[in-house]
Amino acid sequence: MNFKRNILITGGAGFIGSHVVRLMVNKYPEYRIINLDKLTYAGNLANLNDVEDRPNYRFVKLDICDFEQLYALMQELRIDGVIHLAAESHVDRSIKEPFTFARTNVMGTLSLLQAAKCYWESLPEGFTGKRFYHISTDEVYGALEFDDRLFTEQTPYNPHSPYSASKAASDHFVRAYHDTYGLPIIVTNCSNNYGPYQFPEKLIPLFINNIRLRRPLPVYGRGENVRDWLYVEDHARAIDLIFHAGKTAETYNIGGFNEWKNIDLIRVIIKTVDRLLGNPEGYSDELITFVKDRAGHDLRYAIDSTKLQRELGWEPSLQFEEGIEKTVRWYLDNEAWIEQVTSGEYARYYEAMYHDR
Ligand code: NAD
Ligand code: DAU
Repeated sequence: MNFKRNILITGGAGFIGSHVVRLMVNKYPEYRIINLDKLTYAGNLANLNDVEDRPNYRFVKLDICDFEQLYALMQELRIDGVIHLAAESHVDRSIKEPFTFARTNVMGTLSLLQAAKCYWESLPEGFTGKRFYHISTDEVYGALEFDDRLFTEQTPYNPHSPYSASKAASDHFVRAYHDTYGLPIIVTNCSNNYGPYQFPEKLIPLFINNIRLRRPLPVYGRGENVRDWLYVEDHARAIDLIFHAGKTAETYNIGGFNEWKNIDLIRVIIKTVDRLLGNPEGYSDELITFVKDRAGHDLRYAIDSTKLQRELGWEPSLQFEEGIEKTVRWYLDNEAWIEQVTSGEYARYYEAMYHDR
């Protein structure tokens, strides 16, 4: 079958990537969507059960650090667009294993850039009609004080964790490939995502699951830190829009203007889980356990996505209360998924985290 486009999505078996793959496979039957993923502890093909048999979907198990294989794959499948999400993504892990983060996030991104550049340069039309879209995070901008303004696209980079430092380095490489070689890139920086299929080491799914199991809820520090939350399907819609309509070499911030202090968010989660499980109000409040703060814990992230809203007309579709309700229901209805992804390697990691405290 001849496809109109051949789009390589890296990290498609992870949380956000699986939503992007699903959206594009369903919305564009005329495109071939190639999901490239190493399947680390965070990648799970069960996230894509509903699209795996589609004729326009293909999975390739590969490490983004493997330049030779990436180059061969791009040639073989005539890739003309890349949406790059593969990364090590959990801040706490980056504090314990910084080398893994530098390897995947920096060297992996560099391998992918180089493979795309070499392959596209070898074609008669060169970079025409090509796009390399790199998914980044608001954490590269550093941390805000409570009374600071929001992060804009002009905010200078000031990363603090090994995770955000590795993402910042990868963003710089992506922009350098445009400025040096003319690679048609685009970068977006998004705020905290939540929703189905997020690995339950991140705050929201971890706490929903712990409430279900009546385990302690480890709140770092005093729970004063602020995050800006966006429902994952709204991020996936933004990625689709920007991939098709964004301007080459531009940066767009993505966020829902939805800031929450951790402890307030945690109380909403407890209330929602208790209500849906039929527990009396306040039943799980006693699980809140204040623990040692995360090292270098950024106080506040808040993203200004005015440019995206103004120039491309994107806006979030879900109110936060609605998004949280959907999310809690999904995790409560999908215990088997949680059991599957938290067995084995994650169980050992979780034990070690607690042992350290
Ligand atoms: P995730 O950890 O859920 O998924 C990452 C995926 O990448 C997994 O499927 C994993 O198997 C794959 N992967 C890891 N190393 C790989 C390698 N060497 N080669 C190939 N595949 C590899 O991550 P996520 O939360 O879905 O984040 C996706 C992207 O979005 C990341 O780049 C992250 O920095 C960025 N981001 C995440 C958030 C968020 O709130 N989760 C917010 C903004 C930006
Ligand atoms: O801002 C975007 C970023 O959001 C993404 O780039 C990252 O990939 C993603 O992991 C996320 O980073 P955070 O560190 O903000 O997310 P996390 O879910 O780990 O933590 C959210 C907040 O909750 C943070 O202030 C730390 C706190 N926390 C987290 C965990 C896991 C706790 O208090 N207890 C916990 O057990």
